[in-house]
Amino acid sequence: MCGIMGYIGHGEASGCITDGLSKLEYRGYDSAGIAVINKRGIEVRKSKGELKNLLEKLDRRPVTGSIGIGHTRWSTHGAPSDINSHPHLSKDKTFAVVHNGIIENYLEIKALLTEKGYRFISDTDTECIAHLLHYNYDGENFFETVRKTLDMLEGAYALGIICKDFPDTIIAAKKDSPLIIGLGKDENYIASDIPAILERTRDVYILDEYELAVVKADSVEIYDINGDPVNKNVFKVEWSLDAAEKGGFEHFMLKEIYEQPRIVKDLALSKLPPAEHRVNLEGISLDKSDLEKINRIYVVACGTAYHAGLLGKYFIEKIARIPVVAEVASEFIYKDPILDESTLVIAVSQSGETADTKEAVKIAKSHNAKVLAVVNAIGSSIAREANEVFYILAGPEIAVASTKAFSAQVTAMYLITCHIAMQMGKMSVLEFEEIKASLYTLPDDIEDVLEKAEEIRAVADKYYKAKNVFFIGRGADYLVSMEGSLKLKEIAYINSEAYAAGELKHGPIAMIEEETLVVAIATQQELFRNTLSNIKEVKARSAKVFGIAVDGNKDMAQECDDVVYIPVTHPMVSPLLANIVSQIFAYYMAYNLGTNIDKPRNLAKSVTVQ
Ligand code: F6R
Repeated sequence: MCGIMGYIGHGEASGCITDGLSKLEYRGYDSAGIAVINKRGIEVRKSKGELKNLLEKLDRRPVTGSIGIGHTRWSTHGAPSDINSHPHLSKDKTFAVVHNGIIENYLEIKALLTEKGYRFISDTDTECIAHLLHYNYDGENFFETVRKTLDMLEGAYALGIICKDFPDTIIAAKKDSPLIIGLGKDENYIASDIPAILERTRDVYILDEYELAVVKADSVEIYDINGDPVNKNVFKVEWSLDAAEKGGFEHFMLKEIYEQPRIVKDLALSKLPPAEHRVNLEGISLDKSDLEKINRIYVVACGTAYHAGLLGKYFIEKIARIPVVAEVASEFIYKDPILDESTLVIAVSQSGETADTKEAVKIAKSHNAKVLAVVNAIGSSIAREANEVFYILAGPEIAVASTKAFSAQVTAMYLITCHIAMQMGKMSVLEFEEIKASLYTLPDDIEDVLEKAEEIRAVADKYYKAKNVFFIGRGADYLVSMEGSLKLKEIAYINSEAYAAGELKHGPIAMIEEETLVVAIATQQELFRNTLSNIKEVKARSAKVFGIAVDGNKDMAQECDDVVYIPVTHPMVSPLLANIVSQIFAYYMAYNLGTNIDKPRNLAKSVTVQ
């Protein structure tokens, strides 16, 4: 959580920093702030709430200076408020600090510094870093002061630090939270993520654990925590600028929903060579000899990525016939999972920075398990920590609610499953070709669903005042019900639960009444009769039913109040299409309710705290 942006050069820092922060608000938007150095020393402006509040403040009271750091916050320690906003200043305003992460020993540091006469004004853990810098400062050596301070910190940090005595230097440091350095012409930047600097440069250094960068207008030097220089390769960003902008859509979420055909097409075409009966996993060592050593598979992830992981478990068990345990990462890390060199752990994460998933990967590796990361963000921590990486190549996902990454993660799971099944001889060429054909046609099928957006919107127009919603389904439909329900909760703030359709009568059916909306996902032909019975059960109790079914299923039209049909395809693939209906439905439910769709309350895109 939290976004950091810094600028050093010959232009005005303030505009560049707030531009960058506007691309990082997906990381948190509880408050925003900026600190620049000018002839008055360090000047700070900060404001509770979204970045626009800070911009208004800067309009009224601008700050000038060509070096500065900025921050957009997702609160952990201390409620959202002006005082708790970053940057935080040290005693005497010698240092200003922006921080993403959590300092675990901040209470001890605070006690030490309070005893030495330091006065704290905020409730944050970050303020202790600012004062600690002051405490360690000999009045001469900025770099050594930072190094000494880092030595005393426990926990996670990405830091941007300025010192009033060094108006030509920003020092950046990273441990367990992402940080990059953008390389410009006579100016350089620090940022939490690439979109913040994409308009200005495509050349970046991605900091590794325990690295520090000394950033000046015309140079960037990287060091390890011992102060030894580190040689780093420049990473060239290939994304188009357009990919990080809204491209004419009212919200990033809608734009990202509409990007799905292209993303799935790129993945399918690059991994499924037309004339071959194999998945091309390019450089991932997961061939027959690797797989023969594996006797247990875990899938670990959080939130939407976990739902993609559940589908992965479903496919691998059904097609490759290998038992898989899927766990939310926040549980996995505390339950002493059974791991050794014969375990494969598949970690799914859009951002590649989710703290729990990252911790799960570390634990797996410490037990010599093989880790395959299914990740979107290139060069992210999870991608670097894992033994093997499957990049889903969905481009930057800006809306907090994940949509395109989910479809790409599920497609990756189809591909990984087919690869394992073919390597292990668990799938015939005919079965492989059937799934391959359906993945080739998937982009067109998704387009067909997108063309029904107005039809889906009409259903949302009818039900957006619903107070209680159930999503039901069986098999893989149940798994995408969980994702549909999560989308509705997070952007429309509607109380919604996903239930295995057959489980409803074991308790939750007591909740069904006239006002209740039930979204019934029924794409699995072999399970359809049973799901239909469950639909009848809720109808008999006066619920409204919105069905999502495969073209030609007339029974659904008879039983449900509203139905949206998806194209006929392989039964493994249809849940992904049904989910696109759920995404559009959640979007228009939220739209009608006037919520902040791209930045729903209390959430952040990248959850870098446990
Ligand atoms: C929901 C959503 C979250 C994320 C979860 C994991 O729309 O976006 O549930 O899926 O926080 O994030 P990543 O995939 O970045 O590890």
